[in-house]
Order: sequence, then C-alpha cells, then structure tokens
Amino acid sequence: MKLILTTIPLITCFSLVNGECQDPTVATTGSGIPLRDRFAIRTVGCRGPVPMEAAEFLDDQSHIDRERIPERIVHAKGFGAKGFFEVTNDITKYSAAKVFSSIGKKTRVTVRFSNGFADKGGADTQTDIRGYSIKFYTEEGIWDLVALNLRVFVINDPKLFSSLAHASKRHPTTNLMNATTFWDFLTLRPESTHGLMWLFSQTGFPCSMRNLNAFGINTFRLVNASSEYVYCKFNIITNQKIRNLTIEQTTKLLSTDPDYYQRDMFYSIEKGNFPSWTLKIQVMTQTEADSAPFNYLDTTKSWPEDKYPMIEVGRIILNENPANHFAEVEQIAFSPANLVPGIQTSPDKILQARVFSYMDTQRYRIGNNFQQLPVNRPINPVHNNQRDGHMAFENQGGAPNYYPNSFGGPGSSCRAKNLSAPYYASGYVREYLSDTDYFSQPRDFYENKLDDEGRKFLISSIVKSLSQAFEFIQIRAIIMFANVNQGFARGITEELLAIKGQPEALAFCGIDVCSP
Ligand code: HEM
Ligand SMILES: *[C@@H]1O[C@H](CO)[C@@H](O)[C@H](O)[C@H]1NC(C)=O
Ligand SMILES: *[C@@H]1O[C@H](CO)[C@@H](O)[C@H](O)[C@H]1NC(C)=O
Ligand SMILES: *[C@@H]1O[C@H](CO)[C@@H](O)[C@H](O)[C@H]1NC(C)=O
Ligand SMILES: *[C@@H]1O[C@H](CO)[C@@H](O)[C@H](O)[C@H]1NC(C)=O
Repeated sequence: MKLILTTIPLITCFSLVNGECQDPTVATTGSGIPLRDRFAIRTVGCRGPVPMEAAEFLDDQSHIDRERIPERIVHAKGFGAKGFFEVTNDITKYSAAKVFSSIGKKTRVTVRFSNGFADKGGADTQTDIRGYSIKFYTEEGIWDLVALNLRVFVINDPKLFSSLAHASKRHPTTNLMNATTFWDFLTLRPESTHGLMWLFSQTGFPCSMRNLNAFGINTFRLVNASSEYVYCKFNIITNQKIRNLTIEQTTKLLSTDPDYYQRDMFYSIEKGNFPSWTLKIQVMTQTEADSAPFNYLDTTKSWPEDKYPMIEVGRIILNENPANHFAEVEQIAFSPANLVPGIQTSPDKILQARVFSYMDTQRYRIGNNFQQLPVNRPINPVHNNQRDGHMAFENQGGAPNYYPNSFGGPGSSCRAKNLSAPYYASGYVREYLSDTDYFSQPRDFYENKLDDEGRKFLISSIVKSLSQAFEFIQIRAIIMFANVNQGFARGITEELLAIKGQPEALAFCGIDVCSP
C-alpha cells in the first residue's frame, strides 16, 4: 500500500464576526485569555531565545510542573465510581440519621476502591488489603464509611499503625517491596493472625471489585430519636456472586493487566452493567456488649453472625463513572470523623485514632480547604466561622467570623445535641495492652468457615509470600499458625519445603536464568 501524504489541515476559527473569533471553545490560558498560538513558543527572532514574556508557555508549563499531589500514604492505588444509596429496610429504631429516615429514600454516593499498600502505580491483584470507601452526601452533611474486604484488622492498637505501614510498604534501602519486613512485624504481633488469614484467603482475591464484600470493621454507635444507642458494625455485601481468582490468575494478571480491577469496573459501568451491594448492620446493646465473650471494641475480633445477625439497611448501586479521575477520585477525602447525627463513635481505639488521622493527612495531601472541593463538599450549606487559608473559594462572606456575637450569623443547633447519647468512661490514665485471646477466632475461621479448597488456597497464598522472607521469620510464622491449627502449620511447612527444591527458587540464589 502506498502512503499518501496530505497537507496538515489548517486550524481555522469557524465563527468570525467582524474579524473576531466567536468560538466559545477557543483555547485560553488559565486566566481565560485566548491563546495566540498552540504550537509555537514566543522567541526573539525565528531562531532566537525565549523572552520572559512568553506568558502562554509559562502558564502551561508552570501548571504541569505542579500537577502531582502526594499520593495517599496508604491506599494510594485506587479508582472510583458514583451512584446512590437507597433505604430498603426501616432501622429508625436504631438510628435517627436522616439518611435512613424512610424506605425508598435515595442518597447520592461516591465510592473509591483501593489497594492498601501498593503505590499509586502498583498492580491491582497483588496480595493486598482492598479498600471500599463510600461518601454519602446526606442532607445533614457528609457521612463517610471507610471499609476493607477483611472482616477484622491486623492491629488493634493505633500506636502500631505507622509500623504496619512501614513494614508493608517499600524498604528504605532497596526501595523494594519486602516480604521479610512484612512477616517480621506481623509475626511479632500475634493479634495479626486473624487479619492475616482473611488477607491471604480467597476473599482477598476477588474476581473483580464487583464481587467484593467489605466491612467497616470498627465498632460505631447508632443513636435513635430517643437518644438510645446500640453498638454497630457496618457490612457491605455484594449482590454479584462471590467469585475469586486462582493464585495462578492473580500472578498472571500482575504483568498482563496491572489495572485489571479498575478496567473491569469502568467498562462494566460504561456498558450499563451496574454493580450493587446491600448495606447491612450488626448491632449490640450495652448489656449484650458487657456480656460478650470477646472485646467488642477490638478490631481483630469479628462479631459472629449467628449471635449478632445481619440486618438489611439498603442497597448501593454504582451507575456512573467519574468524568475526571483527579477531581473526583484523587482529591476525594474520606474520614471516619465524618459521622452524621444518629451515627457516632465508640471507644474503639482504632476508630478514635482514625478520627484524627484521615483529615490530618488530607490537610497535607490536598490542602487546608479540601472540604470545599466539589467532590468533598456537602450538599447542605456550610455555616461556621472558618475563613481563609490556601484556596478558600467558598469563604462565607464577611463578618461576623466569631461566635458568640451581636451581629447575627450561624446559630447553634440543638439537632445534633438532642441525638447525643453519652457513654460512660472512667479509669486510670495509662497505656493498656490489648487482650491476649489471639487464636480462638482464627481457629474457628480455619476449621469452620473455610472449606477444603479455601484452606488449600490459604496455605498456598501464604507460602507464596512467606517463601520470600528470611528463614527465621518463616519459622516464627509457622509457630504462630500452629497456635491456630496444627494441620494448617504442617501444610505451610510442607509447601515451603517443596518450593525450596524447585528450580525457580534457585533463580533468586544467583543462578543466571538468562544465559543459554
Ligand atoms: C489506626 C488505624 C488506621 C489509621 C491511622 C489509618 C490511616 C489512614 C490514612 C492516613 C489513610 C489515607 C487517607 C487519605 O490520604 O485520604 C487511610 C486510607 C484508608 N484507610 Fe485507613 N487507617 C487505619 C485503619 C483502617 C481501618 C481499620 C480501615 C477499614 C475499616 C481502613 C480503611 C482505609 C481505606 C479504605 C482507605 C482508603 C480511603 C480512600 O479510598 O481514599 N483503615 N487510612
Ligand atoms: C430507641 O431505642 C430504645 C431502646 O432500644 C427503644 O426502647 C426506643 O423505642 C427507641 N426509640 C425509637 C424512637 O425508636
Ligand atoms: C528486606 O529487609 C531486610 C531487613 O531490613 C533486609 O535485610 C533485606 O535486604 C531487604 N531485602 C529487600 C529485597 O529489600
Ligand atoms: C472462591 O471461589 C470458589 C470457586 O469458584 C468458590 O467455591 C468459593 O466459595 C469462593 N470463596 C470465597 C471465599 O470467595
Ligand atoms: C430536643 O429538640 C426539641 C425540638 O427539636 C426541643 O424542644 C428540646 O428541648 C430538645 N431537647 C434537648 C434535651 O435539647
């Protein structure tokens, strides 16, 4: 075939009125000034240098020079989708939150799916915690539900969070992901056993994020119109089938399609195949909590469904892709501090720490006025005495900017106060270690919740990661899992030994696989 060269078409301005361009889509600088030329920079003479007055170039170049904001310290890799939440069951006897006020009521939501420890460019199917965060735009402000695909968390004391993140992310010297540091930290903290088993089980490798269940993990409180509270766990249960990948598939997808989960979600929604979930709660009264055989505020313990049944609340449907990833996903800011009247914190210490941490990082990651961005701002008006700071574009007019005052301005609301159900707390102020029942729930998980295939998968996926750690740490992990179940530990040991004899493992011991 012959290559036909045509002349480059002239860029023309379609609507010239009196010699002036009327095209509303004409390219401009950030200040709205129509561009003189899109291809050529201003120079002194045809082959001369660029003068300082090349303002069109400066505007554009200085913008791209600043286009990246810090990636999230955890959950950096993620994608979003939009949709709505619809109440399908009356739970007003538990919570007076307006978002639950009547069956059929719809509330707009934005969801972000994420990987916990991967960097922004990481691969979706790597062994990782998967996040599912929902922002509900309610008439009484933003409610964020920030959940994971694990039923329990790997730590139950926030003092250990920074170490969890450091041990799980890149090594400070090699800048490589490091199974040794990961397993080192987690095997030194036996409360991680339960969370680790969820992380490495089939649940951790869903077929797509549409097939994912997610759990709020932390213990919240719901408060009803009579100011009575119950403790509550939020669960997000998929209405798609539970389906998961095989270990071989997860490994293959790491290289063939690192954005596998994101691609699936985007094109499912694009094709009108809208995924949905059922929001369910489990509740406990204070009396039930006091007599529970486990610490109901401990994030490494789950609430058994036979004793604390799932109660349906509503459904979440995702039916729209974001039009702009950065504006609607990268800049979205979820926080467990965003609780609306009728949903409150509990003394769960992980929750208490999260109430601080998320907005703290967002003030750094996005900027002081991040709550004013379209994706983060509530649908109801914001009235307070906050003013100024970088990028304050909804600065709430003028005086008075203090309270109380004699000149009007936002009043106090008795709504939230009416719904506050105080809980009693007292005790000696000091550092308390968590309880030491590390293994009974993991044992129940292994022996009763998993089938043979699930147990086999769990062993293989643990071995895939653990085999990369130093040997003394492998031994420590085996001892930890032996406390759960002897057969479990034996399975891990046998597979580890089998791998060590295989030629692929030798490649890491200095055998050059590239030479003929
Ligand atoms: C002490 C415990 C924890 C601390 C200090 C903590 C801290 C953080 C921080 C700083 C971020 C980044 C937020 C941002 O840049 O916008 C984050 C993200 C996230 N965390 Fe946690 N976290 C903790 C425990 C948990 C738990 C228990 C869950 C789930 C129940 C969870 C789920 C998530 C999710 C899903 C994201 C991603 C949010 C998004 O999509 O933007 N975290 N966490
Ligand atoms: C609030 O909860 C209490 C205790 O469960 C219950 O007796 C009361 O009827 C509830 N109030 C409303 C308005 O549902
Ligand atoms: C992993 O971490 C250990 C402990 O810090 C270190 O000795 C080792 O060199 C690291 N390996 C890689 C690949 O980062
Ligand atoms: C994983 O997939 C298998 C095979 O489709 C299925 O039998 C099993 O129930 C799934 N389990 C989980 C926890 O996803
Ligand atoms: C609760 O609110 C109602 C009206 O909304 C008000 O009349 C009442 O005084 C409030 N009660 C308290 C304890 O603030």
